[in-house]
Amino acid sequence: MSVYQHCINPNCSKTFGVDEILHRCPSCGELLDVQYDWNKIAAPKNLRHFETYWSQRFQPHRFSGVWRFHELLPFLPLEKCITIGEGQTLLRQTHRVALYAGLDSGGLFLQYEGLNPSGSFKDNGMSAAFSHGAFVGATRAACASTGNTSASLAVYSACTNLMKSIIFIGSGKIAYGKLSQALDYGAKTIQIQGDFDDAMARVQEVSKQLGIYLVNSLNPFRLEGQKTIMFRVLEALRWEVPDWIVVPGGNLGNSSSFGKAFIELHQLGLITKVPRLAVINAAGANTLYRLYEQEKLRWNGGHYDKTLVQQFFDTMTAEGRKASTMASAIEINRPVNLSKCLRALDFMNGVVREVSEQEMADAKAQVGAGGLGCEPASAASVAGTRKLVAEGIIGKSERVVCILTGHQLKDPNVTVAYHGTDKQFFTDVLGTRGVKTAEFANQPVSAANNIEEIIRTLQS
Ligand code: F0G
Repeated sequence: MSVYQHCINPNCSKTFGVDEILHRCPSCGELLDVQYDWNKIAAPKNLRHFETYWSQRFQPHRFSGVWRFHELLPFLPLEKCITIGEGQTLLRQTHRVALYAGLDSGGLFLQYEGLNPSGSFKDNGMSAAFSHGAFVGATRAACASTGNTSASLAVYSACTNLMKSIIFIGSGKIAYGKLSQALDYGAKTIQIQGDFDDAMARVQEVSKQLGIYLVNSLNPFRLEGQKTIMFRVLEALRWEVPDWIVVPGGNLGNSSSFGKAFIELHQLGLITKVPRLAVINAAGANTLYRLYEQEKLRWNGGHYDKTLVQQFFDTMTAEGRKASTMASAIEINRPVNLSKCLRALDFMNGVVREVSEQEMADAKAQVGAGGLGCEPASAASVAGTRKLVAEGIIGKSERVVCILTGHQLKDPNVTVAYHGTDKQFFTDVLGTRGVKTAEFANQPVSAANNIEEIIRTLQS
């Protein structure tokens, strides 16, 4: 087999065909990877090879920001890969945000994944998982979601008609921008009385029982698609590896797939330097931070301390501790990809930080003022960078790439509350979350419907 699914537990290491539908290793319950035997598959000799596809953008697979890197995720023949035009994203150097973060003015790059068809990075992974689901003949696909995965699944269903979409969301836990997408695109939407972690547990059980294809990021094919975010970052930097990749951490799919991307690029001799990874939790949903930075949980060649993890989750259950942050996208306390993220942190010499609601709100306003809007969770990457620069972990003159995972319009309530003059709205939406001030607010002004008064207001 030149491509197969492989259990990441070194004590198990079982392999399975790519035509099998598995959520976890049936033998030991660990996560699965998609693995390639690069002796049997012709990998590109250098990254500049991909530039030859730039002139072929009229072909949908070359236009796709995922599939133009097909040779680095060749789990299906290219003609079986589904694209709706994902991955037309942009890496923008933003001086204002660099200075805010404490970096030299040219040091910060924002990788804007909000430009994807459904407005978030999820489309990178969904194109891959959806391709796999259709390939194995599934007719229904499901996910639990804080909103973006569901919007992404729903849009692939609507565009292709290949699998019907079913989405599980926690009650009152989804930003309206995202919910409206799923509804518009026709997804069957089930609101579970509980939070994301509950919805995630239920969707796994239901999918198993009813034979529904699961597209959450424990699906290893999804993570293959998300590797391409890193390939596009390198492409935009003309194949120069930056010093740092900084990403918000929720279910830890991105960080896991970035780690795999760099492991493979390194293995193939396509890069020599590996960037460092920083994963940023919201302080109200900080499982990774606590386990990695406080409890010193490490990958340890795959032999990570499972008892420590189990005890952590048991205590969480006993205390009834629930994730709570305005960054609803990362309001997750039981990240399904924890083990793969530990592997990524190990390979990329990573660090984890938590940021407060105030830090995220201010960073989000700065990203906006710099000309790229993002949703609150995405701003965690900038807030985390600022913290790491202040601590001296990220050097002032290093080159840092922050991943802006979702579009500004996904969650306008937070934005309007921050900038608004309506104190009550600010308190209702942000105050209860711990945002006390809006230092960078751009407050709207009001005037009577009268030309003199409008002019007077503008001149004051
Ligand atoms: N940023 C945004 C905008 C997200 O939607 C998510 C995850 C993350 C960051 C965290 O990414 O899981 O790779 O650590 N949203 C999922 C969802 C959980 O259902 O849409 P991760």
